[in-house]
Amino acid sequence: MSIAPAPAFDPWQRAFIADPYPAYAGLRAQGPVTYFEPTGQWLVPHYDDVRALLRDRRLGRTYLHRFTHEEFGRTAPPAAHEPFHTLNGNGLLDLEAPDHTRIRRLVSLAFTPRTVERLAPTITRLAEDLVAGFVADGGGDLVAAVAEPLPVAVIAEMLGVPEADRPLLRPWSSAICGMFELNPTEETARRAVDASVEFSSYLRGLIARRRRDLGDDLISALITAHDDEDRLTEQEMISTCVLLLNAGHEATVNTTANGWFTLFRHPAELARLRADPAGLLPTAVEELLRFDTPLQMFERWVLDDIEVGGTVIPRGSEVALLFGSAHRDPARFDRPDVLDLGRTENPHLAFGAGIHYCLGAPLARLELVASFGALLRRAPELRLTTEPEWNPGYVIRGLRELLVEV
Ligand code: HEM
Repeated sequence: MSIAPAPAFDPWQRAFIADPYPAYAGLRAQGPVTYFEPTGQWLVPHYDDVRALLRDRRLGRTYLHRFTHEEFGRTAPPAAHEPFHTLNGNGLLDLEAPDHTRIRRLVSLAFTPRTVERLAPTITRLAEDLVAGFVADGGGDLVAAVAEPLPVAVIAEMLGVPEADRPLLRPWSSAICGMFELNPTEETARRAVDASVEFSSYLRGLIARRRRDLGDDLISALITAHDDEDRLTEQEMISTCVLLLNAGHEATVNTTANGWFTLFRHPAELARLRADPAGLLPTAVEELLRFDTPLQMFERWVLDDIEVGGTVIPRGSEVALLFGSAHRDPARFDRPDVLDLGRTENPHLAFGAGIHYCLGAPLARLELVASFGALLRRAPELRLTTEPEWNPGYVIRGLRELLVEV
């Protein structure tokens, strides 16, 4: 008997982006790590390895706290890219200890569970209003009408970005996020650099206004946050605000749209959810985050030699942790390819693990429960009208639009 070869891991192919799961199964069968020549990365497809490496301090989101580019065997990015790297490199997601520890502590003083809980009624109201408008229109593009505006409005509201300026956020964010895809082109880099310059200058102005006139928003809280006389520098403030604004909506938009697409393709599970939304929504949201996770891959630099399943991966290498594959690993999940909205044993990694664990996870969960809940109640017959297309990005994976009627 001959076994058909598994489809290749090819993150630039539309068919792969639409359904990467057969290729992941092939990678898992191949072994604990596979070297991927086109990006020069070690692909890690098994759950236990992904989870362990997220917590392993021999890896880092940056290496610059320990080595120069040359010492690490890499070349420095072109000087023209500097605005992007300065912006990105001063936000907590791309820092390691001790800077990460210090900034995360300061940001956590402002971004507290209480701040998030206080927002719950606002989030519910925003979701209900958006969905009511969408239903009154008879449907349309769920991405543009609900999935996107809700998290953008919430994070902008938290940071105190005036309503008139909010349309600027999404284009800046997507230009910057282009750099997180694999092997970004020079054109992508140019757009990210322009957006970094404009976004930084916009925030510099907003922060200056808040310094003169503190409010009860997150920027004001970041200005006053201090810990043993330690405060965020101006650049750290700007980078943190950009990170919060971008991370605060990108994945939530995609979880909402990808999640509804998953539900439409699993009508029995959708019917089950419609029959008991209040009872099933909390586990359903977790299952949608597992089943078609919005962030498919996270990268780490290897700061000291590690061994994964018998293969030594030397210092200077890069590993690509495949969240989407980890979530379908039968060694960890019972019937991983089955969508079970009532799944209770569900230790998915959608929000990461270790020191970079998502700061916004409670907020994202609130938003997802609010928007799925509002749509389930107000649009009980919501259905897909057109097969959607995927955006070209693989790392941040989402639908271009999701056309539905009510
Ligand atoms: C469904 C929605 C979301 C998903 C799936 C998600 C996922 C993640 C993941 C996987 C990480 C860790 C990355 C790594 O280890 O390399 C992360 C970090 C982060 N997320 Fe989220 N996120 C979501 C929503 C949010 C929201 C709403 C915010 C709001 C502010 C947010 C803010 C952050 C921040 C600030 C970090 C960096 C934490 C650090 O480096 O210490 N995220 N997120």
